[in-house]
Amino acid sequence: MKTILTGDRPTGKLHLGHFVGSLRERVKLQNSGEYDKIFIMIADAQALTDHADNPAAVRENILNVALDYLSVGLNPEKSTIFIQSQIPALFELTAYYLNLVTVSRLERNPTVKNEIAQKNFETSIPAGFLCYPVSQAADITAFDANIVPVGEDQAPMLEQAREIVRKMNELYGEVLVEPNIFLSSNETCRRLPGIDGKAKMSKTLGNCIYLSDDSKTVAAKVKEMYTDPLHIKVSDPGHIEGNVVFTYLDAFCEDKKTVAEMKEHYQRGGLGDVKVKKFLLEVLEEILTPIRQRRADFENNSAEVMKILKTGTEIANEKANEVLQRVKRAMKINYFE
Ligand code: TRP
Repeated sequence: MKTILTGDRPTGKLHLGHFVGSLRERVKLQNSGEYDKIFIMIADAQALTDHADNPAAVRENILNVALDYLSVGLNPEKSTIFIQSQIPALFELTAYYLNLVTVSRLERNPTVKNEIAQKNFETSIPAGFLCYPVSQAADITAFDANIVPVGEDQAPMLEQAREIVRKMNELYGEVLVEPNIFLSSNETCRRLPGIDGKAKMSKTLGNCIYLSDDSKTVAAKVKEMYTDPLHIKVSDPGHIEGNVVFTYLDAFCEDKKTVAEMKEHYQRGGLGDVKVKKFLLEVLEEILTPIRQRRADFENNSAEVMKILKTGTEIANEKANEVLQRVKRAMKINYFE
């Protein structure tokens, strides 16, 4: 069996970083027809681990993320899209896995460590937040997923999930499937910088192009994109390292030959930023236009979107309950069976 599970926290609309880092890959995997089951989870319970004071925002973003999924081409006929908080088995599994993980191991998780620093949580980390990698291990194992397509920042989560699986299997017999990370093969796509040139496109940094941005907004953002501060006159030789416009061309443009030629011309001097940006905008619009069209179809029909999520959640519950029963049996806590 080849089973995929992945997901996103509903803390905002999804952007181009999500698209090249994971969404585009998911759609490809989905359409390859090579996978037996595909589960895509909206991780609202995980979002609440650092947004406990703002459940309204999490709720609102469920629909945003679902629309982003459907608009990039995830197809509910092929992929089960569901909501994490509505799957009780995940929380039971988490409780059992927590016994196999030490607090110091959790504190060493590099992604969690980064987030703690970013959110100024150092002096008061919510326990649920510190433990979210364990709940993420439950998300993955509850579906017997062996393939987890995610961005590079999720690698430590996968590592921790694998440790939990090995520990469970060692203690209770071969009860869980060990998952593998699936990273985008295009290096540039694994961590897309923001339009300001900062290392990562992120809502908090305010440097995103969203999948739901209209043409005018995208054009304005491309216009203000960070390029080469030393490239002042068109005739000056330019640098392409750290030049976001070229980084995005690497990530989005299929025509590698043209990109290589433009890079060469830019470095030699004589190619202006305005021209390169115009080309990038065309490339982005070609990708975003069909996404916007699909979004428009679903946007006016949120009842239909909710129905997709409800059906997906029912299917997900069935699978997760089956795995939970298997785990409880292995742990000998199936008293009434
Ligand atoms: N941590 C992921 C994110 O921040 C979301 C997520 C939750 C996830 N559970 C998962 C991803 C399980 C892959 C597998 O986007």
